[in-house]
Amino acid sequence: MNILLGVSGSVSAYRAADLSRELMRQGHTVRVCLTDAAQNFVSAVLFETLTSQPCLVDTFEEPTVGRMAHIDWARQADVIVIAPATANTINKLANGLADDMLSTLALVTTRPMIICPAMNPQMYVHETVQTSLRHLISRGATVVEPTEGDVASGETGVGKLAPIERIVECVEEVLFSSQALIGKKILITSGPTQEPIDSVRYISNHSSGKMGSAVAKAALQMGAEVTVIAGPQSEPLPIGAKVHSVTTAQQMHDQAVKLAPSFDWVIAVAAVADYRMSAPIEGKLRRTEDSMTLDLVANPDVIAAVAKAAPNALLVGFAAEPTSETTMAQEKIKRKGLFAIAANDISNPSTTFGSAQNHLKLIFNDGSIAESGLTSKFQCSIWLLKQIIYKCANKS
Ligand SMILES: Cc1cc2nc3c(=O)[nH]c(=O)nc-3n(C[C@H](O)[C@H](O)[C@H](O)COP(=O)(O)O)c2cc1C
Repeated sequence: MNILLGVSGSVSAYRAADLSRELMRQGHTVRVCLTDAAQNFVSAVLFETLTSQPCLVDTFEEPTVGRMAHIDWARQADVIVIAPATANTINKLANGLADDMLSTLALVTTRPMIICPAMNPQMYVHETVQTSLRHLISRGATVVEPTEGDVASGETGVGKLAPIERIVECVEEVLFSSQALIGKKILITSGPTQEPIDSVRYISNHSSGKMGSAVAKAALQMGAEVTVIAGPQSEPLPIGAKVHSVTTAQQMHDQAVKLAPSFDWVIAVAAVADYRMSAPIEGKLRRTEDSMTLDLVANPDVIAAVAKAAPNALLVGFAAEPTSETTMAQEKIKRKGLFAIAANDISNPSTTFGSAQNHLKLIFNDGSIAESGLTSKFQCSIWLLKQIIYKCANKS
């Protein structure tokens, strides 16, 4: 695999030399990009000698005449590893700056990114660094935590670059994940639905589409071909996913039933309205002093219909439950013929609709249960997809 190794200006930059050799020993091609500051600690010649590849530093110095290295290298990489990552580089990456070669490459690539911070302990706990790291994780990056020990400034604390073996292990793990779903076609439903009451009002729910978008992004990053049937959600969907936009539950049902038979997996994340108006009113309902009763009829059950239309697809439902109890979810698995249900407890304020994090309980049709722990919706999605892969592998 092609690994792009970014080295920034930390006193531990010399350890990137060992890291590049270790990654090459695992059979990978390593290409290195240094920041200006990194050149105070290590040189391009060192990495060119170790890796037998050109080493990039200057955005405008092209190793191949007529080609733009910041585009080519970013596209050719299977993973980008930044080790050591300084406070400055971490803050730049979190904010999308592109004022040197490394930050420009990081902005071009769509491949997974692994960030290995190394800095003084005081800098590491600084609010801006921690906020940037959280932001990068929520966008899909993996952070290899620094370890505790004596740092160059003579202090003791958390800030030392993680051990090389730990970084290599993480690279292998991320590379495995990035290919785990190659060849799989995954259909995802996402967001809320809107059921018209009249021409200006509708019945809906608080779903933001963050979880559906995160599952789509994770599936793409793991190599799947992804199609999303999206309700009117506020969260953008990832580039690379094919999107079918719908508004009502009936439209989501029709689109899902039509598409599902040609997919390997269907993951139903959307919060579909259970009821709609029996006859939506043309024009605008006028206010009166009287009370009003709306006549509602049940919407079709999207996942149950998909189970009938696509009996060979692996189906995973999502259930927002106002409790951590799993009895309802287990009953739904049986009744609807699902492979698993990912239940999230919406009575918990950290995992309710619209929040950035989630804590999933994944209940399989064999009765086993796995828990993700509280983490970003993207990390939850990677966890979810891996759990399904492991369960399928153990069943076959
Ligand atoms: C001797 C020395 C050691 C440094 N070590 C670190 C370090 O380990 N981590 C860090 O975040 N910054 C460190 N810095 C500061 C960075 O080099 C500085 O913030 C620089 O602007 C980082 O640029 P870059 O992120 O583009 O590489 C060090 C500076 C000096 C002079």
